[in-house]
Amino acid sequence: METPAESPISSKEAAGARAALCVESGMILGLGTGSTVTYFLEALARRIQSENLSVKGVATSEDTVLKAKELGIPMTTLEEDPQLDLVIDGADEVDGDFRLIKGGGGALLREKIVAAAGKRVVIIVGEGKQVDVLGTTFLLPVEILPFGYPSTESRVAGLGCIPFLRTTEKEEPFVTDNGNYILDCKFAEGIADPVSLHAEMSQIPGVAEVGLFLDLCDEVITGLGGGTTTVQTKP
Ligand code: 5RP
Repeated sequence: METPAESPISSKEAAGARAALCVESGMILGLGTGSTVTYFLEALARRIQSENLSVKGVATSEDTVLKAKELGIPMTTLEEDPQLDLVIDGADEVDGDFRLIKGGGGALLREKIVAAAGKRVVIIVGEGKQVDVLGTTFLLPVEILPFGYPSTESRVAGLGCIPFLRTTEKEEPFVTDNGNYILDCKFAEGIADPVSLHAEMSQIPGVAEVGLFLDLCDEVITGLGGGTTTVQTKP
């Protein structure tokens, strides 16, 4: 009988597994959200089991809380542990200056709080997430309060984009873990000046968080086909 061929390791899985090697016993971790992070959590859980690693994690979403608990990863909170040794999270786009678009999973607000609490932030991505100009392959997620959202939406549009209210399969507004809505913003030519855009959008009343992470990434681990990875460290 033939042994079935092993399925090839995906680029996201490779990045997640590589990131688990960055963890040391005693660390307080920030645990991101998304499919790449799920691979990281699985690899981390294996290391906790086999090497008896002692770590605790702060989750960036309710989804990650559930996954981490299922995998037996001990959890803590930013109230108990306000400073994190290492944050591992995914991204939707990464540019050459280690700037990111995040929020594809709708967790951008907690992700930014957790990244800001980290001494070191490692971003893990599969193939196809590196871009020259942010906003060219992915819409920019912006978390907004439901109160008066059409007014917030038109002010966001005034910054040169077309915002789409994120909806569920039932065509209802997608609601974040914080009870907010998400606008996915399309920039026809990409985001020419992410720093100015971030500053201007953050000033709009009703905007809770912008999915531009401009100075919150120290290292990018990119998974490649066949299980290999590259690691880029911010100079
Ligand atoms: C969630 C995020 C995710 O990190 C981002 O969407 C990447 O997800 P994936 O690893 O599934 O491609 O920002 O809010």
